[in-house]
Amino acid sequence: MTSEQPTRDSSDEAVTADDWWKTGVVYQVYPRSFQDLNGDGIGDLPGITERLTYLAWLGVDVVWLSPFYPSPMKDFGYDVTDYCEVDPMFGTLDEFDALITEAHRLDLKVMVDFVPNHTSDLHPWFAESRADRTNDKRDWYIWSDAKADGAPPNNWLSVFGGPAWTLDDTTGQYYLHSFLPEQPDTNWFAPNLRKQMFGALGFWLERGVDGFRVDAAPFMGKDPELRDNPLNPDHTQVFQKPMADFDQFRHVYDIQHPVIHEYNREMRALLDSYSVTQPRAMIAEVTLNDRVAWASYYGINRDGYHMPLNFNLVSVHWSPESVRAKVEEMEACLTATHWPNYLMSSHDELRIASRFGVAQARASMLLLLTLRGTPTLYYGDEIGMLNATIAPDQVRDPWGVRMPGYGRDPGRTPMQWDASVGAGFTRADATPWLPLHADHAVHNVEMQSDDECSMLSLTRRLLAVRRSSEALVRGAITFLDDVPHGCLVYVRHTDESRCVVVINFTADCPEVILPGGAVVSSTGETHLTVSGPFNMRAYEALVVLEADAGTDPS
Ligand code: GLC
Ligand code: CA
Repeated sequence: MTSEQPTRDSSDEAVTADDWWKTGVVYQVYPRSFQDLNGDGIGDLPGITERLTYLAWLGVDVVWLSPFYPSPMKDFGYDVTDYCEVDPMFGTLDEFDALITEAHRLDLKVMVDFVPNHTSDLHPWFAESRADRTNDKRDWYIWSDAKADGAPPNNWLSVFGGPAWTLDDTTGQYYLHSFLPEQPDTNWFAPNLRKQMFGALGFWLERGVDGFRVDAAPFMGKDPELRDNPLNPDHTQVFQKPMADFDQFRHVYDIQHPVIHEYNREMRALLDSYSVTQPRAMIAEVTLNDRVAWASYYGINRDGYHMPLNFNLVSVHWSPESVRAKVEEMEACLTATHWPNYLMSSHDELRIASRFGVAQARASMLLLLTLRGTPTLYYGDEIGMLNATIAPDQVRDPWGVRMPGYGRDPGRTPMQWDASVGAGFTRADATPWLPLHADHAVHNVEMQSDDECSMLSLTRRLLAVRRSSEALVRGAITFLDDVPHGCLVYVRHTDESRCVVVINFTADCPEVILPGGAVVSSTGETHLTVSGPFNMRAYEALVVLEADAGTDPS
């Protein structure tokens, strides 16, 4: 196997202890679905707190919590009515404090979701804003007159289908909503709105959160003139996945106004001012397909987000060409000081094991945990959870209701802790808010933790290997050419240490030549030390921690 030049050499880049967001692995918890302690069928903060020991045992470093703020739950918490409270459904502020304390005791960081682009239509700010055209908060949202024929002000569409405008009878104007009509878009041009939003960030920073995941970040700035979006005749994807009617337009005016970067800098400065004794970080949901635009969210002087989340593996096909292209695309759009990151799944996607297959999901976990950059795992993927079948009358996700086929419920079902009636998620007599996957009796944390070959044991082993390997945490990545058909091979290397990763995307058993060293295989067989010719098994991935480090990756 011959080598290429490293696409990026990060080995000389200083990574300090403060850079926990570079060295750690993030785990996303969807609070509704993680652990229900009070038996109402909905996960809650005390439930999460109780399960933090599991996350510490698993070996992740950072817990990102999707929203738990007061909300009518039209979009399950992404429609906020109070940025500085906990919804009683999830618990209390005291219980949130207890969660942070316990997480920090276990050496886990906590990031919370921040939803700046829109509030709930039931937020008191919106109630005031819609009351009359002249009130103080009118400009906290985006209001506009109808066209002469009564049509909406422009051609902007909602991500969730239909026009992005709803006529409000109270004042006879339309308001903008990039998502549901129950999620009116805030107007970040309004200084007092910004002040309130920064106040909310300060509120959680004061309570000790380690950072934020900023929702729908590219939406925060819109054209103040509200110009029509031009057509997009070839339906070029604006995001990392096809978006139906939304892709009819080039989204040059409804998202991405450059002023966004000023807001990002302001948020960053606030975060930095809190980072002297406790280093904080800010990641953002930036699903843009355009890599240059995506990378701009780091900020020109690294004064924007620590990391815009990289969704490009969400749309990967499980093939060596596709994976390599996505990784190279990612590496190519970074400067030497930009830190990469990868995720393959989230509460907005379908389950990996259902997308790629069960064996492939194991290999994809090995991929995710051996790439250069911060990995984000989605709860349940460590046990290979599958999409649940959601009957039409059980659909809860508003996107799925409005646009059949786009529903996100199948990947949001409750965590499968054990084989009991409530899967250890909730009590036997409770009805979980989404149905449990039928396979929870044979597919759960308890059973997998007793099985050395399980996906859970594999994930845990990979997390431990990653933590212990300088090459995996900080090393450069170099793909090798001239590898067997259907295989992807890359080397992670610093001056002192090297790991080789081999992924077989086929059902065949190609022969590869392995260096000597400890091996972790996605099949669950571990710690065999192989050197020389080796026949990969079907869909197997393995990482070899080379015994003799410091050599050239060829
Ligand atoms: C983001 C969230 C998604 C939500 C949407 C509107 O995309 O990840 O779950 O529906 O924003 O807030
Ligand atoms: Ca509950």
